Amino acid sequence: MKKEFVIPAIKDGSVIDHIPSKATFRVMKLLDPKEYEHTINIALNLPSKKMGKKGLIKISSRTLTEEEVNKIALLAPDATVNIIKDYEVLKKTVVKVPKIVENIVKCSNPNCITNVEHVATRFLLLTEEPLRMHCFYCERVMGRDDISLL
Ligand code: CTP
Ligand code: ZN
Repeated sequence: MKKEFVIPAIKDGSVIDHIPSKATFRVMKLLDPKEYEHTINIALNLPSKKMGKKGLIKISSRTLTEEEVNKIALLAPDATVNIIKDYEVLKKTVVKVPKIVENIVKCSNPNCITNVEHVATRFLLLTEEPLRMHCFYCERVMGRDDISLL
């Protein structure tokens, strides 16, 4: 329990754990801006046996939606989302990239219809690791580094 001295345990809320350190701020940014009303602890470069270094986000008094958990999977494929109630871990979800990624990320092809007209983006998952998905409209194949969120 030594780590709890670094970042306090929370009473109720959500903990996003095992984030690749470098992706931590991107994960933070994809959460609903309403999050910023809650108490949030963000930690980077915590030692991790599994990952070497990891990032961690603790949000008090708020349970993440399934949509948010899916978005997290795109940036942090090995993240764990823990729901905390009364200081106990009530639920632990290993995130999973959805087979169809709708209206979350931009298509990197500037000529794609989704960048020209008011059309929702849609990508179909090809492989999870490394992440590859292709645009339903223009067939552009994108990897994790190409992802920019809408
Ligand atoms: N946590 C918290 N507040 C609590 C309980 C847990 O902030 N009241 C955090 C822990 O610090 C940890 C995460 O929630 O980052 C998951 O807790 P737990 O399952 O107890 O930790 P581990 O066994 O280390 O998790 P894992 O197996 O996923 O690595
Ligand atoms: Zn496209």
